[in-house]
Amino acid sequence: MNVPLLDLSRQHRAIETELREAFNAVLRHGKFILGPEVAEFEKEVAPHCGAKHAISCASGSDALLLALMAFEIGPGDEVITTPYSFFATASCIARVGAKAVFADISLDDYNLDPEEVKKRITPRTKAILPVHLYGQAADMTPWLSEAKRRGIRVIEDAAQAIGASDLGRPVGGFGDLGCFSFFPSKNLGGFGDGGLLTAHDDALAEKLRVLRVHGAKPKYHHHLLGVNSRLDTIQAALLRVKLRHLDGWASARARNAALYTKLFVEAGLAAKPSARASGASEEDDRKPILLPETRRTRHVFNQFVIRTRALEMRDRLRAHLQKAGVGTEIYYPVPLHLQKCFAAWGYQAGDLPRAEKAAASTLALPIFPELTEREIRDVVETIAAFV
Ligand SMILES: Cc1ncc(COP(=O)(O)O)c(C=O)c1O
Repeated sequence: MNVPLLDLSRQHRAIETELREAFNAVLRHGKFILGPEVAEFEKEVAPHCGAKHAISCASGSDALLLALMAFEIGPGDEVITTPYSFFATASCIARVGAKAVFADISLDDYNLDPEEVKKRITPRTKAILPVHLYGQAADMTPWLSEAKRRGIRVIEDAAQAIGASDLGRPVGGFGDLGCFSFFPSKNLGGFGDGGLLTAHDDALAEKLRVLRVHGAKPKYHHHLLGVNSRLDTIQAALLRVKLRHLDGWASARARNAALYTKLFVEAGLAAKPSARASGASEEDDRKPILLPETRRTRHVFNQFVIRTRALEMRDRLRAHLQKAGVGTEIYYPVPLHLQKCFAAWGYQAGDLPRAEKAAASTLALPIFPELTEREIRDVVETIAAFV
């Protein structure tokens, strides 16, 4: 058996002719930096992110950094965020000299627990940075209007969630700025690094366009201290091709997730996700695997992440799957508050118990759109054999 965690070659084979045409067009015109495809892509992608403006840049990490730079967040400022995310969610805060204030997550969707966010708002809070982890919108409703009223900036880390929505509204459009990544494993994956910011405000969008070109406007006249962070024209051209398929791929991911759920429940390995919310039975409480909960949102399943009830089981299950030829990953084994490079923020083990529990017990299974039903069945059967 060989079920990889991700196989991009299947996706690229299906659209190879379109990709080659887009690539050749850029080769012919040669405008490799901020060429016409960049503006075209920005125009086309903005509605997918619920925003008026889309400003592309060199990576999702840069998008987060540029967002904090645009709001002039720095030393003495606090940014509330999640401890359970990719490193860049917190490193951008450290890089501008501000302090990350971590709020714990919910173990149902692995996103920030809104009540924990509310508790941490202080006069020093300059921004709140929720992450829409694994492709599911974080619940922002309980604190969003208070944040807006207090002038706290809201920066959404939607790196994993392009196309996801909450109550019909796309992520990236709830806050002041949305940040997206085109890292190859994302739902809209490029052929290298790439990123995007989304904004409603005209002046803010213009500021970001200046910040991404060394803070210069016009060229060689620097009124802001910017960086070099642009999306390559080649990337934009190829992403335009992929954007046409994004919705279909998200539906395929959701279909795969539904099949996993059905098979896990039928095999007696896990309770139906909704059963947990409505009060699990004793029998459900003993099932060894916990499936991801989907809130009222459109989940785009960048990852399908299960959790083992017994913490010590996760690593053994992963080793068993690896031996059987099934690719998995742990997103993320060390929560951000316990990363050595953030020691100066003063967090200790035990401070954010739910994030720590997630880090010790979650496991991402293959979920990419082109996965076959046979492969999904093989994965679940391999897990059943282990259990
Ligand atoms: C939640 C999250 N934030 C930020 C990033 C950073 O994006 P990039 O790899 O494009 O810099 C990623 C992805 O890698 C991510 O998953």
